[in-house]
Amino acid sequence: MKKITLNNFGNSEQMKLNEVDDLSPNDNQVLVKHMAIGVNFIDIYQRSGLYPLNLPSGLGLEASGIVEAVGENVKNFKEGDRVCYCNGPVGAYSTHNLVPENLLIHLPNEIEFETISGGFLKGLTAYFLLHDVYNVGKGDTILFHAAAGGVGSIATSWAKALGAIVIGTVGSEKKLQYAKSNGCDHVINYTTSSFKDEVDNITNKDGVSVVYDSIGKNTIEDSMDSLKRRGLLVSFGNASGVPDPINILDLMKKGSIFVTRPTLFDYVKTREQLDTASNSFFEALINKNVKIDIQQRYNLIDVAKAHDALSNRETMGATIIIP
Ligand SMILES: NC(=O)c1ccc[n+]([C@@H]2O[C@H](COP(=O)([O-])OP(=O)(O)OC[C@H]3O[C@@H](n4cnc5c(N)ncnc54)[C@H](OP(=O)(O)O)[C@@H]3O)[C@@H](O)[C@H]2O)c1
Repeated sequence: MKKITLNNFGNSEQMKLNEVDDLSPNDNQVLVKHMAIGVNFIDIYQRSGLYPLNLPSGLGLEASGIVEAVGENVKNFKEGDRVCYCNGPVGAYSTHNLVPENLLIHLPNEIEFETISGGFLKGLTAYFLLHDVYNVGKGDTILFHAAAGGVGSIATSWAKALGAIVIGTVGSEKKLQYAKSNGCDHVINYTTSSFKDEVDNITNKDGVSVVYDSIGKNTIEDSMDSLKRRGLLVSFGNASGVPDPINILDLMKKGSIFVTRPTLFDYVKTREQLDTASNSFFEALINKNVKIDIQQRYNLIDVAKAHDALSNRETMGATIIIP
């Protein structure tokens, strides 16, 4: 068995591939042999120490594969089952992981291992953002940053399927074409023009119902200024850095707006929530309302290259690692 170990926080070179002793499951644990592993921006926050882990640590939160063995108290899984997980335990960058039964999901036969590994965490994120944080539907115009990214490409096509008018932002012309082909009604290159001004033009100065902002520091101010009266800013990531503190009086001045800073893990806290989100996402995938588009594949030994490409804004769609 092999796994990526992190001994110090820092750049991508801190991730080391090691041979490890064979794992065997206890109690409610399930031993999963990985077929494919998902790469997410949160892995970069954890590697860098922005979201600290207890070191030494494994890395990676999502993978799919086959059950190899189960602990004595496991009830719902058996050897040979096709499974996936996206809520840890940290250590998915490996050939095998021990996953508590309550975090593991049966993978429908219609969905391939590679596909789900590229988008389970991203898809459940899109689910809770579009359904639970704000219920997106017909009549909403929404702004979604990094629309060509992993979460962005799933969420924008899903929002479109829910009937919203979708404005996406991207960092390059190539990504602009990609986001358009995923169903965005309008795409703005926010590296060459002001997205706030473009949103004003598109909405006749009304603003949007909700802004989904995972960029953070560089965009949060203009995101608030892109909202309509009593609109909602959903700050759900920090790709450009942690946003500066917000002056609460500004929420009034900008039109009695709302701000929330949610994390997926508080929206799939119970088994019932995890099952509801997973089933809804699987259904959307099987019905082709959303797709997971794997644009980058790496071997486990090359995980540093995967991280560098993601943090340097070189990727589109999803990135996976083959163990
Ligand atoms: N709160 C939650 O529960 C939750 C769950 C999942 C993901 N997230 C967040 O959602 C975001 C997307 O995650 P993902 O894994 O799908 O990543 P991703 O969107 O595939 O990659 C991040 C994208 O952010 C954009 N970006 C803008 N400024 C950047 C900068 N200075 N450095 C790096 N990237 C920059 C880039 O797109 P452009 O070049 O087009 O700008 C880049 O491709 C991340 O911020 C992540 O933390 C949050």
